[in-house]
This record gives sequence, structure tokens and C-alpha cells, in this order.
Amino acid sequence: MAHRDPRRLSRRQFGLLGTQVSGAVVAVLLGIPIVGFLISPLFRQQQVVWRKVGDISGVADGEPTKFEVAFPQDVWTTAEENLAVYVVKSGDNTRVFSNVCTHMQCPVRWDVALHQFLCPCHGGLYDINGANVGGPPPKPLPEYVHRIDGTTLFVQNRFTEEI
Ligand code: FES
Repeated sequence: MAHRDPRRLSRRQFGLLGTQVSGAVVAVLLGIPIVGFLISPLFRQQQVVWRKVGDISGVADGEPTKFEVAFPQDVWTTAEENLAVYVVKSGDNTRVFSNVCTHMQCPVRWDVALHQFLCPCHGGLYDINGANVGGPPPKPLPEYVHRIDGTTLFVQNRFTEEI
């Protein structure tokens, strides 16, 4: 009686292997578009948009004034979120600051008595120019790119410097 070579596949084993290889190829081919769809936002740039803040003729010199602006939330959706910005006028100069603390992202507010931006979470302080002057914040308040048409202020959803 002839012995089979143990390295040779039986017809059944060969068929099973072919089915498994075919299944793996189909799974990979189907998976590529799905994985591409899932990770594509990682490579998408946040769209830069201009948003109207409003009429700033009533903003007094040296008195930071809070406005709300609707910005795109992220690259994943078309949803928007309202963010607070502080408009600071000083003579002919206008600056627009984020109200997000650079320590742990709590919302800061202008404190009239202190004449500083105060972060309620850990007592961070920023001066009227957004410079971090006390407490844990490691950086100044982010400043938005802006333009003014007449008395109407517009901002972009990006900052003047990388944060
Ligand atoms: S989050 Fe503002 S000081 Fe900590």
C-alpha cells in the first residue's frame, strides 16, 4: 500500500484553504473603503470660515465685551457651536480673544473689579491684552484673526498664532 506524502494537501484541505483565502481577500477588499471612510476626517483640514460677530460701535475703549459666534464644530459634522469671544478696543486697535483658558479650557470672564480676565477653575489671570499674568495658565489667551467692515466685526475660526 502506497503512503501519502504528509506535505501534500488532500482535495478537501485544498478546497478549504481556497475558501479561506478567498474569504480573506473579500474581507480586505470590503474593509479598505470602510477604513478609509472612518479615518478620512483625520486628514481633512478644518474649513476656515468667516463669521459675523456683530456691530462693535458700542464697545467701549478698555472694556472687553463678550459676543457669541457660531463656528463649525469639527471636521466630522456640519454642526455648529456657539463660542464666546471677547472684543477688546484700545484706540484704533481692536483685538478678539477666545474665552477658553489655556490651562484646562475653562471659560474665562472679564472681571471689572480686577480689570483682568479671570478663570474660575484654578484662578488663572490674564491682562487686558490676553497675556497670562497669574495662576496656572501656561500661555496667553488665543487671539482670533479678524477684520472690520465699517463697524461690523468678522472673525475666522483660526487664531493669529498656533496654540
Ligand atoms: S482651567 Fe483656567 S486656570 Fe485652570
